[in-house]
Amino acid sequence: MINKCLFPAAGYGTRFLPATKATPKEMLPILTKPLIQYGVEEALEAGITTMAIVSGRGKRAIEDHFDISYELEHQIKGGSKEELLTEIRSLIEKCTFSYTRQIEMKGLGHAILTGETLIGNEPFAVVLADDLCHSDGVGVLQQMKEVYEKYQCSVVAIEEVPINETQKYGVIAGKLVDGTDDTYRVSDMVEKPDPKDAPSNLAIIGRYILTPDIFDILRNTKAGKGGELQITDALLEQAKQGRVIAYKFKGKRFDCGSVDGFVEATNWFYDRIKS
Ligand code: UTP
Repeated sequence: MINKCLFPAAGYGTRFLPATKATPKEMLPILTKPLIQYGVEEALEAGITTMAIVSGRGKRAIEDHFDISYELEHQIKGGSKEELLTEIRSLIEKCTFSYTRQIEMKGLGHAILTGETLIGNEPFAVVLADDLCHSDGVGVLQQMKEVYEKYQCSVVAIEEVPINETQKYGVIAGKLVDGTDDTYRVSDMVEKPDPKDAPSNLAIIGRYILTPDIFDILRNTKAGKGGELQITDALLEQAKQGRVIAYKFKGKRFDCGSVDGFVEATNWFYDRIKS
């Protein structure tokens, strides 16, 4: 069972400066909903109710968002705007939120290791809220949970990217398993390779299910690309033992950590509600 979802949300979000100088990137809205709320909804849809958030300096707005705002609620009670808070209220009722702080931003791997105190010794999901996933059918995390239940090892979500974009992602090599066309046993993974060194065009996106031995591996992993502790390097250790599955999810992903992806997501969601 996957009971907890970790949200590494301590990064500086420098690509969105100056907006992210005093506002967490995870709180930037697509239409009226902050990115992290989409992620929490996806986790809840997968049956996960314990949300573990790795935050950092300047990220307090995330905590306030997943809390009651008595003054505001009192102000709009009984009016037409009250229903605008229905979704977030329901999330707050159904989920618990706990927080820990990453003191130094030493990379995604380090952020995940920082979350150990909230996760403990059990398999868990990871959502990078700036990768916004949408599926008209089963949500991406629920799809991954089903893969985890079958293979009982770490699962990374992948998508095909243009080969000239591999330097933005962790990229995998692997073989399709069990006659599927979407599920690979990973044999190698490289963080942000040049296209000429990329083992494939199958890029890891911001959804993971990790087994808890990842924490010990991370503890013993040295800083990698960019001087940061990379989750890809730790996953490679599991992959060498045949314990990582890469799953080509069904649905759409928007890279909302980039301005282009953010605008694309905004337009896409806006067109959806208008049509
Ligand atoms: P990114 O590299 O996309 O986020 O990290 P960033 O560093 O915030 O953004 P830019 O590149 O400066 O614009 C992927 C995810 O990992 C988290 C980020 O918050 C984001 O969700 N992260 C990254 C941490 O929590 N801690 C870190 O030290 C680094």
